Amino acid sequence: MKLAPSILSADFACLGDEVAAIEDGGADWVHVDVMDGHFVPNLTIGAPVAAAVHRVTDLPLDVHLMIDNPDDYLEDFAEAGARGLTVHQEVCPHLHRTVQRIRALGMEPGVALNPATPVAALEEIAPEVGLVLVMSVNPGFGGQSFIGGSMEKVARTRALLDRVGSSAEIEVDGGVDAGNAAALRDAGATVLVAGSAVYGHAEGAAAGVRALRRALAE
Ligand code: DX5
Ligand code: ZN
Repeated sequence: MKLAPSILSADFACLGDEVAAIEDGGADWVHVDVMDGHFVPNLTIGAPVAAAVHRVTDLPLDVHLMIDNPDDYLEDFAEAGARGLTVHQEVCPHLHRTVQRIRALGMEPGVALNPATPVAALEEIAPEVGLVLVMSVNPGFGGQSFIGGSMEKVARTRALLDRVGSSAEIEVDGGVDAGNAAALRDAGATVLVAGSAVYGHAEGAAAGVRALRRALAE
């Protein structure tokens, strides 16, 4: 089980320390949430910040693009050092081409589904992707509540991937905490993103990562 803390909930004024804290806690990936104020109602960070994070950590960068026209930025994130690049199904009319381009640029392609987008939307692309991101909140902000039906959706995603013989990761993003982590794993998730559960932990982000790990061990 991989843990990918989202730096969206970190203190941007000391981002290097915030990344070091999750590394110390045993995080597997750094989740980088890129928002454009169009596809989602929020503006966050772009490729220069991803590159800066890449310079201070050995952890793989797991970049989640919540932007219109992601095709215009694939090279930028490859150059920034992204290991995985995830685009939303809802904004990619030529998703197959986008996925192939991400792979050709040396990154692992991921496809994200909003809460209202059915798993069936993955039917044709599933064999091509390295990761499916099931959004368990409507993207745009950290700290929202987990949408209950997402648990079942993770299980349906696992069933689809199994059916097409794919070993792609299933990542869950939004409202993940120590209370639902084990159930998500049991439903078929292999990567958990957590922002507020990690960076909002009373004893700091390293403790937040360890608390999730403990919840998974119980
Ligand atoms: C939501 C982002 C998430 C978010 C997770 O739009 O994609 O990665 O930061 O934050 P929490 O864990 O607080 O829901
Ligand atoms: Zn995200």
